[in-house]
Amino acid sequence: MDTVLLDMDPGHDDALALLVALSCLPVRGVTTVAGNQIVEKTYLNTRRILDVAGIHCEVVRGASKPLFRPLVVADRVHGDSGLDGYDFPLIAPARSVDAFSWLRQRIREEPKVRWIATGPLTNVAVWLMGHPDLREKITDITVMGGALRGGNVTRYAEFNFYVDPDAAQYVLTSGVPVSLVGLDVTHKALLSFHEFYRFKELRTPVGEMFYQLFAFFSQHEPNAGPEGTPVHDVLAVAALAQPHLFQWTPMALHVERCDDEHRGKMTVIPSQGAVPGVNVATDIDVEGFFSWMWQQLEYYRK
Ligand code: RIB
Ligand code: CA
Repeated sequence: MDTVLLDMDPGHDDALALLVALSCLPVRGVTTVAGNQIVEKTYLNTRRILDVAGIHCEVVRGASKPLFRPLVVADRVHGDSGLDGYDFPLIAPARSVDAFSWLRQRIREEPKVRWIATGPLTNVAVWLMGHPDLREKITDITVMGGALRGGNVTRYAEFNFYVDPDAAQYVLTSGVPVSLVGLDVTHKALLSFHEFYRFKELRTPVGEMFYQLFAFFSQHEPNAGPEGTPVHDVLAVAALAQPHLFQWTPMALHVERCDDEHRGKMTVIPSQGAVPGVNVATDIDVEGFFSWMWQQLEYYRK
């Protein structure tokens, strides 16, 4: 499998996606983006998660705001730190290299790369704009974002696409193959509260971390309820690693960028030759997904 790059805004569900990806994919490194929290916090959170797991993986700090708009964070969902609910050990401060030159180096030195993006698409859009000569080295981009029916930050828009609708529109119509995992499937894969004990059962700091993080997240995620808590981002990892768990439908998509109630809304447009299609996940084998997810998390069992 081609080398995998992760672009994330940890965030509780990003944390789960990060460690599941590291357990089963050839991850070359992580670029962090402003989204759930400011980029200084999403960068620190990524390093904190890796520290708890005892994993060395390159992490760099990317865009601090959307392409053309002020940043909107999800502090009511992820807390002031962006990863509230777990008392992380202190880690030494680090100076990040520039994410975009780091990406240029990594993508230049690899034959091909695959990208998984689980936050606003600002980093991905900026990099694609600046590197037309290297685009063919990107096999595909698997994105957690968007929704065909109903949003989670407004009635129309999913959070990642709401924060940076311009970047979302650019990436979806860039011509680079995109697999899109939106709320239509992430709201089907709900982690039930009684399943949280399985984190504890790993009997490692990683298990305890996820148990406490999801105890917090389950009380703050807007679509969490008695049936369970969405795990959003880890479905993008599953989509790349186990695409057969999903039903895929090619669609030409448009993202609303007017600053009104429709901002970030994703709509299907008549598929014209000019607009490249996006592979949209329209259904998921929920049981098969969770069976796969818990199997990958065995990597973190004592
Ligand atoms: O709408 C869910 C998405 O927004 C997830 O990526 C979550 O981490 C937040 O960023
Ligand atoms: Ca995210």
